[in-house]
Amino acid sequence: MAADTTPEQVLEQIGAEVRECTACGLCAQRTKAVPGEGALKSGIMFIGEGPGFHEDRQGRPFVGPAGKLLEELLAAVGLHRNQVFITNVVKCRPPGNRDPQPDEIAACADYLERQIAAIDPRIIVTLGRFSMARFFPGAKISAIHGEPKYADGRAYVPFYHPAAGLRATSVKQSLFEDIQALPAIAKRLKELHAAGYFDRQEAGADADNTAAANEPGEDQLSLF
Ligand code: URA
Ligand code: SF4
Repeated sequence: MAADTTPEQVLEQIGAEVRECTACGLCAQRTKAVPGEGALKSGIMFIGEGPGFHEDRQGRPFVGPAGKLLEELLAAVGLHRNQVFITNVVKCRPPGNRDPQPDEIAACADYLERQIAAIDPRIIVTLGRFSMARFFPGAKISAIHGEPKYADGRAYVPFYHPAAGLRATSVKQSLFEDIQALPAIAKRLKELHAAGYFDRQEAGADADNTAAANEPGEDQLSLF
């Protein structure tokens, strides 16, 4: 990346590549690829599973019924979807909304990695088990949903998938409880940064990893 390339430009470049991508079989039946969208500076990123019917038509993430619930969840903590970044593990719709296959997730992983690197979010919320598996290998969502993992200077927070919340009231209830904990998680994250927790966690791994360099940016998490 050239020194004068902004994260927004990197995201645009990734989006352009995704729209042309033929790296896995999901390219064959897609209408539109769905790279992801939203604001970068809040430092909050939501990662879902993959586009569904509506997303495939519009080329935008979470614009169907699951997206409506996601918007309600965000509103419960005073956020609008355009204040956070929203993307998926796979960027093209699995036919009939079947689960994404391991080879498809692997083929698409580099786009997600590059998005995370460009945004450098302070909070990553995973929506559903395929997204969770990337950060919590082997975990069970019913056991760990809502419980943050503080690592890499971030909070990783696993949520149920909003589509599951549409199918079961108890899951929907859990989603609202879990999102209501986000402001406290953001506060805790700031405290951990201030206390140098991540420097100790990574001690020896990165000589430049001073507390100051690791402070969340001025804009990041200021929404809460
Ligand atoms: N479900 C997802 O996982 N992602 C979307 O973008 C829409 C529905
Ligand atoms: Fe490429 Fe990902 Fe779409 Fe597969 S799902 S074609 S890897 S963008």
